[in-house]
Amino acid sequence: MTQDDGTASPSLRPVSPFDVALLAELHARSFDPAWGPGEIASLLASPGSFGLLAGRGAAPIGFLLGRAVAGEAEILSLGILPEERRRGAGRALVAAAIDHATRAGATRLFLEVADDNLAARALYDTAGFRRVGRRVGYYRRAGGPVSAQVLERALSGSGAADAGSSERLA
Ligand SMILES: CC(C)(COP(=O)(O)OP(=O)(O)OC[C@H]1O[C@@H](n2cnc3c(N)ncnc32)[C@H](O)[C@@H]1OP(=O)(O)O)[C@@H](O)C(=O)NCCC(=O)NCCS
Repeated sequence: MTQDDGTASPSLRPVSPFDVALLAELHARSFDPAWGPGEIASLLASPGSFGLLAGRGAAPIGFLLGRAVAGEAEILSLGILPEERRRGAGRALVAAAIDHATRAGATRLFLEVADDNLAARALYDTAGFRRVGRRVGYYRRAGGPVSAQVLERALSGSGAADAGSSERLA
């Protein structure tokens, strides 16, 4: 944990089963529709799942949920509180997920991102992801379906360092 004037790097920690309600609350501040506590609990109980929480001071400000199984890993969800965006928390969580997945033995990390999510696409681009596929109409939105890009990042010991990971998580 770091002393914090609002500009310092966020603190990161792995999630525990006691964080389900908090994760649901954070998820609801970033996504519509949001994942409920039951959905998040069952995800965390599934094989290879992992979660990370970012905080500023004592306050949680963001999360990442992922999975690493059989040599492949996925970022399943990532969200930062609106008022905390563009301060490096998203980048720190992605770097920590890269680190975690690498140490779990994964060699490739995947995710899906909506075509119109320019902030997330820019974040993943700077973290070394490249586009490997497309899912047409993957997201159902009030204004109509939006396609997803499937992104991949190769993982290696040096890959985690490339993404600027500085914090070792369980
Ligand atoms: C996408 C999201 C997680 C980014 O988190 P963040 O903490 O704001 O990102 P960071 O501050 O770490 O930004 C890292 C880099 O990503 C890019 N980036 C982030 N937000 C951006 C934006 N709004 N516009 C353009 N580039 C952006 C920039 O390259 C940035 O580096 P810089 O600030 O040095 O220019 C956040 O906007 C969010 O929670 N959005 C809603 C939920 C969501 O879309 N999740 C991703 C689903 S795949």
